[in-house]
This record gives sequence, structure tokens and C-alpha cells, in this order.
Amino acid sequence: KVGAGTPVSPDRWFTYDVVAEDPGTHARAGVLHTPHGDVPTPIFMPVGTKATVKGILPDTLERLGTKILLNNTYHLSQRPGADLVEEMGGVHEFMQWHGPILTDSGGFQVFSHEEFFKLSNAGVRFRAVDYDGSWVEWSPEKNMEIAQKLGADIVMQLDQCVGYPAPRSKVERSVELSSMWADRCFAAHTRPDQALFGIVQGGMHLDLRVRSLRHLEDAGDFPGYGIGGYSVGEDHDTMFESLEPLCAEYMPKGKPRYLMGVGNPTTLVRGVACGVDMFDCVLPTRTARTGSAFSSEGRLNLRHARFTHDHAPLDAACGCPTCTGGYTRAYLHHLVRQKEMAGSMLISQHNVWYLLDLMRRAREAIIAGTYADFVSDWMASPAARDW
Ligand code: GUN
Ligand code: ZN
Repeated sequence: KVGAGTPVSPDRWFTYDVVAEDPGTHARAGVLHTPHGDVPTPIFMPVGTKATVKGILPDTLERLGTKILLNNTYHLSQRPGADLVEEMGGVHEFMQWHGPILTDSGGFQVFSHEEFFKLSNAGVRFRAVDYDGSWVEWSPEKNMEIAQKLGADIVMQLDQCVGYPAPRSKVERSVELSSMWADRCFAAHTRPDQALFGIVQGGMHLDLRVRSLRHLEDAGDFPGYGIGGYSVGEDHDTMFESLEPLCAEYMPKGKPRYLMGVGNPTTLVRGVACGVDMFDCVLPTRTARTGSAFSSEGRLNLRHARFTHDHAPLDAACGCPTCTGGYTRAYLHHLVRQKEMAGSMLISQHNVWYLLDLMRRAREAIIAGTYADFVSDWMASPAARDW
């Protein structure tokens, strides 16, 4: 079965083993045990919003070294619907990826269109703007019902994500709402083969972040924590100002920390140094479809005319199937210019491999106790440019 990991006994499901702590940074290496296999951390999780990672089939995901991928509860609840996915045997069967899967709640999507949501005591009413535009009623309980029907290994609580900049009072209210919803999701979630992660909100305010975290710790024994509400318009240094102390001084050591929606290579490297364990982002697949590639030389856009006669592989330093498969930059340039599917596919698999490999190498450095050097080497390298 494609993607399937080694099963672990139910008493170890969702336990998290920290296997090494880097002496020079806050980075850790760990293993998260799930019903569909073990997830080594730090890890990048490719995004398959609608039960497919765009342009990459499951057997290729496995070949790239994917250990866990993402689906989205909001999107799948709209089409094809949670009942249909359940009828088809759950998300793993449905998409034929038998490794670990995490579903995000949709808290990010629901609140991404300011004019199209309304809060109520029950939960939130919002317009399904990506679909038929009809109004949808969601409560935390309804969200958990959908998530449990989909059947991913890890599900995220319903939360409110606020953009940046935002008045402190607005961020404060989003923490209160997300905290209340955490309680209600925790009470409504019953599937023993599925883990519910709480989500820390609080914008760029460390005190609000800590308040949010403390509430989650009191609310129940969440097996892991999402860190939401970042990468919403702030610059990197602004993010790290609160993220670093949050992870280093406040988050519990024995549980995985998932920085939501963050996926540019330099942010991954720096996030790991803060003690983040899991990342996801559409960046590698989305930018690939515009011809944009991560590389050891920095960002490359294959549309550029300078690649027309280029015999070199996309990135000579890369071990991915695209870069070791004999494909030239000239060929990729041609495919991208012609909007051929193969161009998107070849660059998508390169970009995903690039982030997976970056995290594999980060993990090795943490285990070797040399992650501080890894970070400074990275920051000094051309690869860190443009991202
Ligand atoms: N993805 C990126 N950021 C967020 C967030 O704050 N909440 C949720 N649920 N998903 C996200
Ligand atoms: Zn490559």
C-alpha cells in the first residue's frame, strides 16, 4: 500500500519521542507515532487540499520521501462531501495514500474573506466562496463531525486566524474564540485512532500567544499543538520575535509543534532552530505551476529566456527524480512556456523533494549536534536568497 508506514501498537499512537536536542539551538529531532506509520521530525508536509497533491501522484510522493501529507476539511466538506469520503472508506482509501494524513480544520479558509463570515454563539456562518457561494453553518461540533468522517490521523481544531496588521483587540478576541472552540472541539472529538491538535493563536503578541497556549494546556491533553496565525502578511523577523520565545520558553517539550502554512526554505531552517517540528505550505507546488523552483542557487524561474539553451539539470546539487532524470533546464523551460502538465509535475516534485530533503538534512544535523552550523551555512549560501 502506497505510503504505508510500519504500524505501531495503539497504546503508542500519537506519542512523541524526542530523540535528540541540539546543544546550540532550540532544535529537536523526534518521532511522532500514528496509526498509519511513524513521522520523523522535523518534517515538511506536502499539501493535498482536495485529496490530491497537485501534480504529484501518491507513488511519487512516496518516492520523494513524503511521510505525512495534508488535506483540508473545509474543501473536502464542500466537494465531494464528508459523507461521500466516509462511504468510500475515508481519506486514505479515497486518495490511495496509506501513510499518515493531517486535515486542517478550515479555520484559515473560513476567515480569509472578511466580508463573508458571521460569528454566532453556535459557531460561524460563512460563504463557500470557492464553490457555489452558498452560506454554510459551522460549529466546532460540526467541524469535528466532518473531520471524524474524513478519518485523517491528525485533525486540527476549528480556530480563527487573523491577518496582519490587526488591532490588538481583534487578535485578543480571536484568541478567546479559538480557546472556546478548542474546548468544544476537545469535547466533541471521540475517535481513538485520530489525534486532535489544539491551535495557538495570538498574532505577533507573545503574551496573547502564551495565554492561548495556557488555555489549551488546561483544556485537555492535546497530543500536539498547531501554531497558527503566522505568515499572514508580517515579515520574517516580526514572526520570529514572538515565535522564538513561544517555542523556546513556553511550549511543552514532549509534544509536537506544527507551524501552520509556513514553507519557504529559509523560514523552515530558522523555524527548526526555534524548536518547530512540523511545517506545511502550498508554496512548493503552487510556485512550481508558475515555473518557479527552489535551488541551491536561490529561486529560479524556468520561464526565463536564459534557460533556452541550458543543458544543465534544474539543480546540479539536487538528488530528486527531476534533477537526476536527465531533464535539462532547456526542456523544463520549453514545457513551462508551453504550459505543458509535465512542466508543472517535474518542478513540483523537485520543489517538494527539496523541502523534504532540507528537513532530512536538518534532522541529521540536530542528531549530530551541529544544527547551529547548519543554520549559519544555510544563511550564508545562495540557496537562502529570495525566500
Ligand atoms: N493555516 C495557516 N495558518 C493557519 C491558522 O492560523 N489556522 C488554521 N486552521 N490553518 C492555518
Ligand atoms: Zn531536483
